Amino acid sequence: MEAADTKLILEIDGREVRVKFGTLILDAAKEVGITIPTFCYQARLSGIGSCRMCIVEIEGQKKLQPACITPVMDGMKIATNSDTVVSARKAMLEFLLSNHAMDCPVCDKAGECELQDMVYSHGQRDSKYGEIKVRHHEKDYIISPVIVKNSNRCVQCIRCIRVCREVVGRGVLGSVGRGAHQEETSFRKGELECDNCGMCIEVCPVGCFMRLPYRYKARPWDLKSAVSVCPYCATGCKTTLQERDGEVVRSIAFKGLGFNDRMMCARGRFGYDILNSDKRLTSPLKRKGDSFEEISWSEAFGIISAGFAKTAPEKRGGVASASLTNEELFFFQKIMREAVGTPNLDSASRWSGDTAGAFIAATAINEGGRTIYQAVSSDTVFVLGTQLSEENPVIDYIVRHVTDSGRSNLVIASPRAMKLDATAHQSIRHIPGEIAKFLNALILCLYEDDPGGLASLEGAGISSKVSISELATLSGVTADELRQLSLRLKRSETVSILAGTDILRLGQGARGLRLLKLALEAMGKRLRILPILDRANQRGAWGMGVHPSFGPGFRHLEAGGLDCYGMLDAAAEGKMEFMYVVGEDIAGMYPDRGFAEAALSKVGFLVVQDTFMTDTALKADLILPGALAGEKSGTFTNQVGRVQNLSPVQSPPGQARIDLRIMEDLASSVSPGYMDNACKDIFGCIQKAVPSYINIDNKSTGKDCGSVVSTDVTFEAFFNVAEKPGAVLSGEYPLRLITGNHLFYSGNLSSYSDILRGLLKEPVAEVGPETAEALGLSDGQHVNVACEGYLDSFLLKVSRGTPPGVVFIAENYADKPVNRFFRRGETIPRVKITS
Ligand code: SF4
Ligand code: SF4
Ligand code: SF4
Ligand code: FES
Repeated sequence: MEAADTKLILEIDGREVRVKFGTLILDAAKEVGITIPTFCYQARLSGIGSCRMCIVEIEGQKKLQPACITPVMDGMKIATNSDTVVSARKAMLEFLLSNHAMDCPVCDKAGECELQDMVYSHGQRDSKYGEIKVRHHEKDYIISPVIVKNSNRCVQCIRCIRVCREVVGRGVLGSVGRGAHQEETSFRKGELECDNCGMCIEVCPVGCFMRLPYRYKARPWDLKSAVSVCPYCATGCKTTLQERDGEVVRSIAFKGLGFNDRMMCARGRFGYDILNSDKRLTSPLKRKGDSFEEISWSEAFGIISAGFAKTAPEKRGGVASASLTNEELFFFQKIMREAVGTPNLDSASRWSGDTAGAFIAATAINEGGRTIYQAVSSDTVFVLGTQLSEENPVIDYIVRHVTDSGRSNLVIASPRAMKLDATAHQSIRHIPGEIAKFLNALILCLYEDDPGGLASLEGAGISSKVSISELATLSGVTADELRQLSLRLKRSETVSILAGTDILRLGQGARGLRLLKLALEAMGKRLRILPILDRANQRGAWGMGVHPSFGPGFRHLEAGGLDCYGMLDAAAEGKMEFMYVVGEDIAGMYPDRGFAEAALSKVGFLVVQDTFMTDTALKADLILPGALAGEKSGTFTNQVGRVQNLSPVQSPPGQARIDLRIMEDLASSVSPGYMDNACKDIFGCIQKAVPSYINIDNKSTGKDCGSVVSTDVTFEAFFNVAEKPGAVLSGEYPLRLITGNHLFYSGNLSSYSDILRGLLKEPVAEVGPETAEALGLSDGQHVNVACEGYLDSFLLKVSRGTPPGVVFIAENYADKPVNRFFRRGETIPRVKITS
């Protein structure tokens, strides 16, 4: 028997405990319901045993021992509350307070301060320390647009330093000074260049690291709270939104609530202020020439009724955002198909319906959900087609946690470097847009010594006509790198592939992923594929059937309709008479802004329901103001199939309404009497139509509502989609432009957050040092980026992780729409940069 499996028997406060070898006393005590107070200890962080709050008495040992770093031994007899322990704890607290500022009345942490709580429950009223306290500075100082620091309250637990290094992977905080003069802060107390994730604020037990946007705004007992889900990516971090006097003042990840525990990224922690924005749409608007005029809801629905009646069913369509709730998305597809009477519907404007179908099939989304920790716990974790550290930062934290513990190999294949590379066992840079060739070469390497095995897979579409070295060259990697990766995969019993939205954006790689799955499974590997998605409810949107080729529950439809691409093509030819667009900024996201704007202008009657005046809304005949997460109830399904509910912390502003209610009234306007027989209990209707949601408890007030389960639907029909070729460079435009989400921006909503905008002073174009040198450009200068027919200026950022010949621009800068560089059908635009 392995030592780790041996059960040790010991006694804690007179109670027998049986735990595994290596268990810490703190965890052993928890097993029998005994809580030992802690301060510096954090479950996710390395143990340092510095604060001594957790000291316990062990029979036979002269010194008290810290429970958070001391493993149990067989036969131990431990007292957690003896007189000696209690008095030592009091002394430790007295010592911690000896230099503490004790300015609770003006400290933002008061009311939720771990030191306050600890002193109330374990401390003493008086102190023998009369010396003058060490003061690090007179006034609080600002170290980032979201962090303000007061070191006079520090208890030197170094949770901040550890979380920044071990969880976030940044390591930009450190200690200066010794003893009582030690201070945890930024380099030279200067402005941080960091992820602004706020994890240091979240873990600081006292009021040292504080949220700058929240400073002096409220006390915890003044706040009204509602549990919700972050709307900025499909990781689905659980958050609690807190409001005071009509203003949402904080988004906080509470310990133990949600799989993310306290983890969130900058977008989740600071992007809440879109709920307070004065740019929100607050009233229905009707077009009047080049502008809009406010109208009442009844007038709006009257206009819809009259306008809709003049349209032909085959010339209608709709697009709903994958940031809406499951309930809204299910109802949207229902009214589109039944009341509006069209099969033309979609949930994305950045990729085609076929590409989405191929991705769903390749990632086996229809095969049920799992937990994120299950999904990333394998012998090898392979990150593919995603700039994970920026697109889904909390998954980056989790992967770092799992792989750093030595349990897995981490392999990353991507065109650009990312923070997670520092943790990876192997990082491979392939040419942007050449994922398909890279995967093809990898499969050939896997079967290099087994031509018979490869031949047996040829029926599935694996081709051996091109050599490994040719494919390696075409995808910009070396054959050695491929063989090294292949060896890692061969040596692994279990493999997790984290497959991201680049596969969707570029319209290629899904087929290769599917073939890799077949190849690995044929080798006997246990494989998990985890889709990494950037819209909060993309998985839900597909599951609810917001797709032209399949309905709720991924059921294939014989008579499919047009996807968003098809609708725009039809609109450009004057063949779309009615479009209903909910929450999706097609003009801002479709990869050819000029074409999208022109096509939308030709839609006979365009109704846009949204929360902000998007570029699509600007083209509308009628605008209906909807609600944000935080203003409505419902559920999101995250990328691994976990269903979580959202509660409202406030009502939508002005005349704005929750989206479901608007959809109901729209359905009645276009099809009088429709609502008489429409489903009222929407979640009940979802469960009838989507069997994978059968076990979900949407009323659950617990951590989540459950996970979707497997169905027997297959997606074979999508495997024959034509994959898009990579970019062919020209002399005049010698650089490849790649795009995606930014750490502070994801989706157009994030661009309305003043706090997030404040984190990045201006939009940047990133190039590698080789490109900068070849062009004679340097970091921090303003440059022009141009394609044929369009030019815009950006701040140049030279980053070592961007390969030669590549420029990266984020896709959600509010005033710099990157889709202006795209021409329809192009996945990787060719551009040039000039000073
Ligand atoms: S905000 Fe995040 S990245 Fe920045 S110092 Fe704090 S923990 Fe580190
Ligand atoms: S700043 Fe906060 S988290 Fe960091 S050492 Fe001080 S008390 Fe601990
Ligand atoms: S943006 Fe994604 S990773 Fe960041 S807090 Fe929101 S859900 Fe979590
Ligand atoms: S919690 Fe154990 S020493 Fe700090």
